Amino acid sequence: MKKWGNPARNLKHSATQRFSSQSFEAVGTVIESADPSFEPGQIVIAHGMGLGVDRDGGLACFVRADASWLVPLPSGLSPLEAATIGVAGFSAALAVDRLESMGVEPGFGPIAVTGATGGVGCQAVGMLARLGYEVVAVTSKPDSRGFFKTLGASEVIAPPGPSDRMLDKGMWAGAVDTVGSDVLAWLLRSARPEAIIASIGNAGGNRLPTSVIPFILRGITLTGINGNSPPTLRRRIWERLGTDLKMRRIASLARVIEPDEIDDVMVQMVAGRTQGRAVVAFCGA
Ligand SMILES: NC(=O)c1ccc[n+]([C@@H]2O[C@H](COP(=O)([O-])OP(=O)(O)OC[C@H]3O[C@@H](n4cnc5c(N)ncnc54)[C@H](OP(=O)(O)O)[C@@H]3O)[C@@H](O)[C@H]2O)c1
Repeated sequence: MKKWGNPARNLKHSATQRFSSQSFEAVGTVIESADPSFEPGQIVIAHGMGLGVDRDGGLACFVRADASWLVPLPSGLSPLEAATIGVAGFSAALAVDRLESMGVEPGFGPIAVTGATGGVGCQAVGMLARLGYEVVAVTSKPDSRGFFKTLGASEVIAPPGPSDRMLDKGMWAGAVDTVGSDVLAWLLRSARPEAIIASIGNAGGNRLPTSVIPFILRGITLTGINGNSPPTLRRRIWERLGTDLKMRRIASLARVIEPDEIDDVMVQMVAGRTQGRAVVAFCGA
């Protein structure tokens, strides 16, 4: 594996704990550490800071990682559960945590989650439902109702097409948007007064064809979620992922595959034929 700047760790994916997810984050066992806060044998999660994006990622038996990218595996999670959650679930949890910190509470009204069959969306649905929120899953896949029922969504709807309207009937007390573009514009114009909308993804595009009207007439807040969080926040969010945000049967969201299946699964993903998460088991795990 290629090496890059300021390496402080060597992780080896051990015989029973070799998992890496679709964003190329990794869960594995430390085999060597130059930093005293991590020790050989410890199981850690590595994600963000360009891992798998502008640096080689977790699709390998060995990963060399900087200490600041690592989080110890929380006691409430198995390595497979953590790999299933991955950066998608971590980011979904950040969005849920943000909604809470901005005052959104269960009972305030429906929370919409868009791109709901995706890795971020389905986990946001499951976490919000677990916390007692009324969750509306917004998906372009109408045959996924059964999937969302098991996650606890109260309703499953399709996203509407583009519109020039500046306001629609106010429905959402909050939202987690993974799609962007026309879908985010629709969430903004159909949110209730004082709603909080968390923008986390751009699966449908980077544009935001909206107006200032939802902000100045309904007091809507649009808040951005960036998963490259500082270490203290990462640890707090991962602790929550192993406790109050832990979804029931989280590992069942993952399809565990072998490295030689990666290309095939990627093609299906790009074609929109996958749901949930793909976890790659390395080196004979
Ligand atoms: N801000 C951050 O830190 C952060 C962290 C992780 C991911 N992200 C971003 O969040 C977004 C979702 O990530 P993910 O891991 O959930 O991705 P994913 O598993 O590929 O899911 C994306 C989902 O978006 C929906 N979608 C709607 N329009 C789409 C289009 N034109 N093309 C493809 N998908 C479309 C689909 O859901 P339905 O069919 O159910 O509508 C799809 O399942 C991505 O843009 C990703 O880059 C951001």
